[in-house]
Amino acid sequence: MCGMHMQESEREPVVEAEFEEIEMAEMAGVIPESAEILAAPNPADEISIARPRPFLELPEPPSTRKGMARVIVCINQKGGVGKTTTVINVGAHLATMGLKVLIVDCDSQGNCATGLGIDKSKVANTTRTLMLQPELAAQCRYATPIEGLHLVVGDRTLVTLEQELVSELGRERRLCEGLAQLMPHYDIILIDTPPSLGIVTINALVAADAVMIPVQTEYFSLEGLALLATTLREVRSRLNPRLGVDAVFLTMHAPTLLNGQVAGQVRETLGEMVVEPPIRRNIRVAEAPSHGIPIHLHAPNSHGGEDYRHLAENLALRWGLATRKNGGTD
Ligand SMILES: Nc1ncnc2c1ncn2[C@@H]1O[C@H](COP(=O)(O)OP(=O)(O)O)[C@@H](O)[C@H]1O
Ligand SMILES: [Mg+2]
Repeated sequence: MCGMHMQESEREPVVEAEFEEIEMAEMAGVIPESAEILAAPNPADEISIARPRPFLELPEPPSTRKGMARVIVCINQKGGVGKTTTVINVGAHLATMGLKVLIVDCDSQGNCATGLGIDKSKVANTTRTLMLQPELAAQCRYATPIEGLHLVVGDRTLVTLEQELVSELGRERRLCEGLAQLMPHYDIILIDTPPSLGIVTINALVAADAVMIPVQTEYFSLEGLALLATTLREVRSRLNPRLGVDAVFLTMHAPTLLNGQVAGQVRETLGEMVVEPPIRRNIRVAEAPSHGIPIHLHAPNSHGGEDYRHLAENLALRWGLATRKNGGTD
């Protein structure tokens, strides 16, 4: 039959025949291509589809206040990713470059003291003192074996401080007040944080210009980073409009396919935010704290020693500190 002369009524059987064909095909488990067009929508089929993750928005960093230290919080809600190790080793390298560096340990485990050879039991004033008695700020700092590097020691008294501050007014700004007097005397203040978002960590974020984020090159890292980005945006909108992200860097990096893939994904997602090089997993880095010294004194030519030196140099460039040797006023 020629289409030109075909009547409306003559077409219908063809369509019906197609329906029958589809039904039969469905029963047989074979769906012809035309099924998609002809099948009526069934609400039971409307299952939510996971959409691609929106672009990871990390807030831009502000410029450093004139004559003040840049205050950087090393943060990642995941434990064991290298926060403390990075604060110690980057802080120590920056000091060897002639910069005035203060590390403030906000973790009750107090690993910064151990890693820098300071006996916590002999320390009178700690991060807790700095937060509760800002007038004592200058006496809360302790010298380390590295010239130009000072430390405010964290210890277990920070655990009770979390509970004590809960009902206090202005509880999120205690560290900010404590650091205010110290800021003119340093080029950079690095704050180490625990793997939790308690009041002490919030205090650190309120006191900061920006954060630096160590990311372990493992499978769930990007999801953790998305969660952290949400937290940072919240703190920024409610408590500290300056807060930005200065750097993301890769830690515990091993030459496996998975590590390489995650590193590639982080670089692709974050672009210039990522500061190179990745810190390779290296036993020398892990053993340095047991000697109470940073990697540049323990094993400067190890992979870890090289990586931390380069990372510190690149961070200094990013912070505009690379050429400011002896730039502090203390
Ligand atoms: N690059 C590295 N290679 C090997 N071990 C490392 C490296 N970085 C850190 N570590 C070790 O991993 C553990 C966790 O590191 P740490 O810095 O304490 O993490 P966080 O502060 O994020 O909990 C420590 O025992 C540390 O010595
Ligand atoms: Mg730590």
